[in-house]
Amino acid sequence: MERIMITGALGQIGTELVLKCREIYGEENVLATDIREPEADSPIKDGPFALLDVTDITRMEEIVSEFKPDALMHMAALLSATAEKNPLLAWNINMGGLVNALEVSREYNLQFFTPSSIGAFGPTTPKDKTPALTIQRPTSMYGVNKVSGELLCEYYNSKFGVDTRSVRFPGLISYVKEPGGGTTDYAVEIYFDALRKGEYTSFIDKGTYMDMMFMDDAIEAIIKLMEADGDKIKHRCAYNLSGMSFEPEEIAESIRKHIPDFVLKYDVDPVRQGIADSWPDRIDVSCSTDEWGFSPQYDLDAMTVAMLEGIKAKDAATQH
Ligand code: SER
Repeated sequence: MERIMITGALGQIGTELVLKCREIYGEENVLATDIREPEADSPIKDGPFALLDVTDITRMEEIVSEFKPDALMHMAALLSATAEKNPLLAWNINMGGLVNALEVSREYNLQFFTPSSIGAFGPTTPKDKTPALTIQRPTSMYGVNKVSGELLCEYYNSKFGVDTRSVRFPGLISYVKEPGGGTTDYAVEIYFDALRKGEYTSFIDKGTYMDMMFMDDAIEAIIKLMEADGDKIKHRCAYNLSGMSFEPEEIAESIRKHIPDFVLKYDVDPVRQGIADSWPDRIDVSCSTDEWGFSPQYDLDAMTVAMLEGIKAKDAATQH
């Protein structure tokens, strides 16, 4: 990869991916695109930016023919809870955007990345040590989009030779940009509320295990996979990734090592709880480790330290 275009660049993953890629490949070689303009103080503004609605293929082609990237990272999508509230919109954005991005990659010979998710699994998937290749019968619209997306990426690779690569992300935890409309968002909100209010009310019930990962590990993994030798890539769409698995009481315990009086309460949201219950407890990441050296650095306690420090620094900066 030398010149990269990123869609959904103002989202939770996109924001940090753009900044890291600019650090590695040079500011002028990473084009950020999104459906809205960056905020006035956004660091995304320091490099190239273009407005793009991913359902508009003509505009996407225009941007690609002008910027001339050799890789496209397609991050624009609605997350699980938002998708469940408006399934038709989710289908149109998640699948419409993806097929446009794949078409443009085929036409302009771009290496291609898009994230799948643990949401691509369903209630009939083995819950523990879920393998990369297994039963995928998801029951949420987001999951239907993700499985279809995985198959579509495989198809573009086998039929047209597009170098498509993808991972199944777990819940991603970060303090730079908050997620919106995801089932795993509780594990981000809990850190912000722990510091700012000393308590948090979780919409996910105690005892509900889900895979999670710190954002630094996720960004590292995307770049490592994209740079990996093509001959080693066997499960190209998609690789299971996870840094840890926990339930709400365990993350609360980790926070209490720093904020001893932290209080965790529950007000369970049936929609997001239903989605969480349909996902695995703990996926097996050995294909990613064996084929291209995936090696996450953060466990729960290391992530807690990074999150609490990051949010403190962020709050201090906005107070000045
Ligand atoms: N974080 C995502 C969601 O909850 C999982 O892919 O929707």
